[in-house]
Amino acid sequence: MSTNSSPVLVQLPSDEELVLKVIPMPGDCNANGDIFGGWVMAQVDLAGSVVPARYTQGRMATVAVNEFVFKQPVRVGDILSFFSKVSRIGRTSITVKVEVYAERFGSQGQYIKVTEASLTYVAIDDKGQPREIPKRDL
Ligand SMILES: CC(C)(COP(=O)(O)OP(=O)(O)OC[C@H]1O[C@@H](n2cnc3c(N)ncnc32)[C@H](O)[C@@H]1OP(=O)(O)O)[C@@H](O)C(=O)NCCC(=O)NCCS
Repeated sequence: MSTNSSPVLVQLPSDEELVLKVIPMPGDCNANGDIFGGWVMAQVDLAGSVVPARYTQGRMATVAVNEFVFKQPVRVGDILSFFSKVSRIGRTSITVKVEVYAERFGSQGQYIKVTEASLTYVAIDDKGQPREIPKRDL
């Protein structure tokens, strides 16, 4: 496990799509002065929904966070880049991988992986029941 003092610089993934960029603000901090994990989770949920929305073509809901790892703290002023790709398409659900990379304030162009997650979204109908994902070439 890497320590917070010497995070490894990494390359951005070439096989995943950039779905969100955001900069956390002081109001998003926890008592340590780092960014609150719940704020990061909310952004990951939003970012993770982008690719599934292309498939579900309508209402959907997050049914599961299968995995969520905070690898490094997120700080105020970091530029966060959220990358995503589909890992499984089921009958009514889609599972995606989301990876979050931070450029520290003043170190643009140098990327640290801060979070990785796997989430599942379900296409739902007007009654909130699962519906089949429409067949479509993307
Ligand atoms: C999403 C919801 C409609 C699914 O209803 P359900 O009765 O569990 O539906 P099913 O058991 O038929 O499962 C539907 C799909 O979800 C998948 N699924 C259900 N539970 C899962 C879990 N814990 N992990 C991963 N996938 C899951 C199933 O595998 C199935 O996918 P598939 O058709 O591609 O194989 C229902 O659970 C719900 O409304 N949950 C609340 C959603 C919500 O409010 N999200 C926001 C949280 S604040």
